[in-house]
Amino acid sequence: MALAGLSLEQAPPLSAPLRLFLTAPLFALLAALLLLFSGPAALASRWSPALLAITHLLTLGFITMSMMAALLQMLPVLAGTPAKQPRLVAWLVHVPLSAGTLLLASGLAAGWKIALLASLPLLAWAVLTFILVAAYSLARTAARNATINAMRLALGALAVTALLGVMLVVILTGHAALPALKLTDLHAAWGLLGWVGVLIIGVAYQVVPMFQMTPAYATRITAWLTPWLFIMLLIWSFTVWWAEDKAKWVALAGLAPGLAGFGLATLSLQRKRRRRVPDITLQFWRLGMASLLAASGIWLVAQFSPVFSATALYPLWLGMLGIVGFAMSVINGMLYKIVPFMVWLHLQTRRPARGAIPNTKEIIPDKMARRQLQTHIAALALLLCAAVLPNPLVYMAAAAWCISCALLAWNVFWAYRLYRRLAA
Ligand code: HEM
Repeated sequence: MALAGLSLEQAPPLSAPLRLFLTAPLFALLAALLLLFSGPAALASRWSPALLAITHLLTLGFITMSMMAALLQMLPVLAGTPAKQPRLVAWLVHVPLSAGTLLLASGLAAGWKIALLASLPLLAWAVLTFILVAAYSLARTAARNATINAMRLALGALAVTALLGVMLVVILTGHAALPALKLTDLHAAWGLLGWVGVLIIGVAYQVVPMFQMTPAYATRITAWLTPWLFIMLLIWSFTVWWAEDKAKWVALAGLAPGLAGFGLATLSLQRKRRRRVPDITLQFWRLGMASLLAASGIWLVAQFSPVFSATALYPLWLGMLGIVGFAMSVINGMLYKIVPFMVWLHLQTRRPARGAIPNTKEIIPDKMARRQLQTHIAALALLLCAAVLPNPLVYMAAAAWCISCALLAWNVFWAYRLYRRLAA
């Protein structure tokens, strides 16, 4: 079977990506619960132990886990080079990534050096295994397109992020004396812009036109944007290290326009979509793009306003908009297309009598997804307000966020349960 030029028969067994998709929302729920129990202290500064833990429950537990699952699913289909033993690969990534993230988060939250150090081999194993498997698949493919190129760059950025993360743990546990602040900024930028941003942009080239029925992205964007962002990130990193006062010019001329340009191009394509039926994924993506534009804007302002960049509010807003508003919204929306599609595809192969198979809209009904979207929007708005007035707003924000993450976990589980029932 082929859809839009994709070789779907290459798709891995359902259990391989699904185990990661089922676990990822639980990490987001854990992050929201940690915020609820830590209260206003979590938002005291970007260095608060609870906030560093929440950051990694989200960036590793929710975002990286979902993106790895999406790559395990998409790579064989896009590149036509399926990984050998996909179930084993998923298992070898899933278990150490989950255990390593829990250890890192508990080490950061409680200051347990032993947990921090114990997380390193597990996270290094998970990331390295995944990079090697994905790189092998990408090296063998004959396919040439912007998404494949973006995947290569994103994998490189993930390697840099992990390496810097390991160095930070070594510094935190007192085993090395290096400039931690600069390294943290580099680590965060490579993680959020390089790994998360470049991959989302590359994947958007495929999924936005396919799932949201929009025209394709212009070739000048697909050919240049992700290499441009990657090179700018490299230049920015060297500038931060050697001539920090000049880094703002790289942000102004290179990074922020690239990110904002992607946000604007996506919003403009969505306005031109062919079928004007309401679509939950589209709403998640709109929220994601609006957050990306806002995050790029305040990042730029902070580069030129030392007063604003010195406030506790600036990194909180930047993190909330970049991680919860942009990355989480886009991935959350994508889950509502990828998971039902995977379930539908595997039911097709298991039960060729088509009449009995629900369509993708019935696998996770719109009503359930819309309720979750509404709580996600409320949680994001309350989080942004809680950054200004942590007491008492942080409790309301965390409660709304817990509900949103629990609903997401339930909705993905719902699709899995339906599959189990129908495939039996
Ligand atoms: C191998 C995995 C990782 C390890 C061992 C790790 C470790 C760390 C450590 C120890 C810090 C705290 C630095 C300090 O307190 O001085 C940190 C900060 C941070 N990490 Fe990671 N990290 C990892 C992966 C990631 C990923 C994949 C992302 C993003 C996608 C990420 C995003 C961040 C951010 C945004 C901060 C900075 C928080 C802030 O400045 O407020 N990390 N990381």
